[in-house]
Amino acid sequence: MSFETNVSQWLESFKHEENFPNLSTFPRFKQVVRRPVSISITGGKGGVGKTSISLKYALELKKIGYKVLYIDFDYNLSNSRIKLGLPLDDNFKKLLRREIDFDSALYKNGNFHMLSGCNGDVDIFDEQSIRFDNELINLLASHEKDYDFILFDCPAGINKDALSINAYCDHRFIVVTADKSSITDSYSLIKVLKLRYGVNENHLIVNKVENLAQYKKVVKTISETAENFLGVRTSVLGGISNYRDKPEEFDYQFLFEENSKIHKDFLKVLNVTAEKCLHLVPCVNPVHGIQEQVLEKEVQTI
Ligand SMILES: Nc1ncnc2c1ncn2[C@@H]1O[C@H](COP(=O)(O)OP(=O)(O)O)[C@@H](O)[C@H]1O
Ligand SMILES: [Mg+2]
Repeated sequence: MSFETNVSQWLESFKHEENFPNLSTFPRFKQVVRRPVSISITGGKGGVGKTSISLKYALELKKIGYKVLYIDFDYNLSNSRIKLGLPLDDNFKKLLRREIDFDSALYKNGNFHMLSGCNGDVDIFDEQSIRFDNELINLLASHEKDYDFILFDCPAGINKDALSINAYCDHRFIVVTADKSSITDSYSLIKVLKLRYGVNENHLIVNKVENLAQYKKVVKTISETAENFLGVRTSVLGGISNYRDKPEEFDYQFLFEENSKIHKDFLKVLNVTAEKCLHLVPCVNPVHGIQEQVLEKEVQTI
């Protein structure tokens, strides 16, 4: 059976409410191939830091030598190019219309490849018939072997496209803040993923942390509620401080300034991620080798 048929059947199976399929129905090859590792950076609520954190993972993993495909799955409110100081494009739409191929749709800087979405594109907005999840998963089938990591930056909200991408990925990194609505939305996401897709484990990153007590409270609330009411395990990856100095400088400080506190916070999160979840030792045998590239410099000069 081809990969494409497998994926389509897997997605189709969620159409019926009475089906509660779980990840054992995944295409078989996902269980036997070690790489690429796919991760969705998700959380239900907007503005919690999903895009910043997923870009940061992509850039740092690239820095230590891995080849990374970053997919901006917020396909019609895409911010990734803006955060990197790159001009917007409509490659995502052209790709779906088969006007360009996958390779031409990517922004590339060495081992960092990015498929960004559109922003406010009326055609994409009107397009009701496309299953964006299906399209992307099928596209990945023929390209994912080229990468060590595939990161999906998920949109806010609980829609079917984002849910099935979340379920498809090997890992889900749920980004949450201390805000009550962020905690509630994250729990709702965990619940729907469990009840409709059989997802039993997620990872948690607490962002915009003000102090240790607040961090601990968020972790406890989500972990205990998910465990007690859903039987879902939460593996905690750490927290990132709230950067208050100059909010307009957050992206630059976080993504590119290696002396910043938030960069250092992220490195701790990355170490825990490597150890707990990816079982990686940085710099050891990345399948695509270390290739020095200076995205930071390029971005700064745009
Ligand atoms: N730790 C943080 N401290 C301060 N501001 C942050 C932090 N993380 C993210 N932000 C800011 O919050 C806003 C939303 O971040 P973003 O990554 O776009 O969230 P999302 O993708 O979840 O909507 C952006 O203005 C970003 O610069
Ligand atoms: Mg975003």
